[in-house]
Amino acid sequence: MKILVTGGSGYIGSHTVRLLLKAGYEVVVYDNLVYGHKESLPEDIPFVHGDLADKELLIRTFNEHNIDAVIHFASYIVVSESCTDPIKYFRNNTLDGFVLLEAMKECGVKRIVFSSSAAVYGDPVNVPIKETDPKLPTNAYGDTKLIFETMLKWFDSAYGIKFAALRYFNASGASESGDIGEDHDPETHLIPLVVQAAMGQRDSITIFGEDYETPDGTCVRDYVHVNDLAKAHIKALEYIKDNPSDAFNLGSGTGYSVKEIIDMVEEVSGVKLTREIGERRDGDPPKLVADHGHAKDKLGWEPEYDLRRIIETAWNWHKSHPDGYR
Ligand SMILES: NC(=O)c1ccc[n+]([C@@H]2O[C@H](COP(=O)([O-])OP(=O)(O)OC[C@H]3O[C@@H](n4cnc5c(N)ncnc54)[C@H](O)[C@@H]3O)[C@@H](O)[C@H]2O)c1
Repeated sequence: MKILVTGGSGYIGSHTVRLLLKAGYEVVVYDNLVYGHKESLPEDIPFVHGDLADKELLIRTFNEHNIDAVIHFASYIVVSESCTDPIKYFRNNTLDGFVLLEAMKECGVKRIVFSSSAAVYGDPVNVPIKETDPKLPTNAYGDTKLIFETMLKWFDSAYGIKFAALRYFNASGASESGDIGEDHDPETHLIPLVVQAAMGQRDSITIFGEDYETPDGTCVRDYVHVNDLAKAHIKALEYIKDNPSDAFNLGSGTGYSVKEIIDMVEEVSGVKLTREIGERRDGDPPKLVADHGHAKDKLGWEPEYDLRRIIETAWNWHKSHPDGYR
């Protein structure tokens, strides 16, 4: 089976491409390289340097490569920026994403696995969060994901394009070999920021709020290893072949506070960090933890990595690539 991976040279995309190849799939990567890193991909992989907005190029790519299915990672991902520059986010993630769906329809490509996000739930009503819980995003990024999920629903019912919307919680960690990993610019994710502080690349680490209603007062999040996410994409791709389209939460089911993450990085690195306390950030819910029972029941998916191994792999990647792919 031949898969088009949009955003395949990004963080989660590159780990998924590696697993797809290992599992015997043929892969074509489609990325505009605005945020991606070609160095994260095998040299000989078919690569199309293209944008989601370029319908003609998408159609040519689908036809020339006989694509059977799409895994769609390409998106902008910085939550705070999505609120100050929603035009950038709705254009790229929603409007240009729509072009991808249109091209799929025109070329008869009938399956898509989509990178959605826990951000679709906003401030959750229940924790752990189930797929059926209310979806009320508190930032523009979350809304771009929710709107894309809505488009998927209608492309399925009208044109028979099957989808799996995978709602990731906090993607983290790096490859076992330490040769590919997370390299975002700007970096906004907690684990790489703490690891960079442990490497001496930052003077301190700021904790945004320590007066939340959580056991130690800091925000609690659900960290899931990038290889566990990659595995879920393959399971979802196979699942929707013979089953109805669906959405799945992908998280470990366990929450860790900001302080617990810093403690674990200190333990793994052996470096004591300077902690600063900052103001709460707007729209940061106290606790986001997945109920991944649906993914377990339907996809047979369960995460294998625990927090220590997540941080060990992140540490190995950053230590051996202090400037990322540069
Ligand atoms: N990283 C997380 O914790 C997390 C959590 C939830 C959801 N997600 C979603 O997972 C997906 C991948 O995230 P990531 O962390 O790997 O991000 P990333 O920025 O590392 O990768 C995204 C890739 O998409 C490419 N891209 C963006 N817009 C494009 C366009 N218009 N045309 C072609 N290529 C384009 C970028 O160049 C980049 O290579 C995103 O959709 C993101 O919203 C990520």
